[in-house]
Amino acid sequence: MSSEDYGDDNLFQSVPHHIGIIMDGNGRWAQARGLPRLAGHQAGVDNIKRILEESVRHGIKVLTIYAFSTENWHRPPDEVSGLMRLLGLTIQRQLKELDRNGVRILHSGRMDGINRHLQKQIRHAVEFTAQNDTIILNVAFNYGGRAEILDATRRIIEDGLDPAALTEERFSQYMYHDLPDPDLIIRTGGEWRLSNFLIWQAAYAEYYTTPTYWPDFDETELRKALEEFNLRERRFGRVLNP
Ligand code: FPP
Repeated sequence: MSSEDYGDDNLFQSVPHHIGIIMDGNGRWAQARGLPRLAGHQAGVDNIKRILEESVRHGIKVLTIYAFSTENWHRPPDEVSGLMRLLGLTIQRQLKELDRNGVRILHSGRMDGINRHLQKQIRHAVEFTAQNDTIILNVAFNYGGRAEILDATRRIIEDGLDPAALTEERFSQYMYHDLPDPDLIIRTGGEWRLSNFLIWQAAYAEYYTTPTYWPDFDETELRKALEEFNLRERRFGRVLNP
């Protein structure tokens, strides 16, 4: 990623501030090419860079990517360890360039279950990029929406909050990060499910799904999603022009 790749194209009237992406279809992408599933995940990692660069061009400020869910532990052990290794290698290989390009990395999810070395790498990536503000790349890894709500509730109880003082805003502050809610959720690979992704935060998000597998979801595909987003009328439960 080079810095001249960055810039704001201003192609759309309304650009989502925060996009959540369910990066599905890596396995099928690999299978269709006679490759092992992990080759699909590697291609998926490469695609994150492409979409991150394009997001910056459009002026998107937060990307939350679903990289490993709390349910993914049930996959074959080789695939689980492969995904863990891939995150470690990606941090090792890409961190400096991400930092140079102003990317701030956040992690959403539980650390329990992740090996100590990878935990250290994740913390390092977060600390190393903490001052950056071009775009936030929030990596949902060992993440589940229900787990996040439970973790928030536990901390609220530990803090002894007065139940009467608990508001939706206050509750949001107990999520893994107090980011603005996603405006758009994109799911590749053709399914119409949220799969436990940002279930608290996505209450009013627009949803976009495409049959395209994640490694093939390129700049043109992102533009299509943004065009569709621009056609949606977001009412947030209200009646417009009553
Ligand atoms: C679903 O594809 C995708 C995942 C399980 C996670 C996505 C992971 C990556 C892009 C790589 C890991 C990320 C980082 C940051 C290291 P699938 O395997 O369910 O595809 P399928 O439905 O075709 O089988």
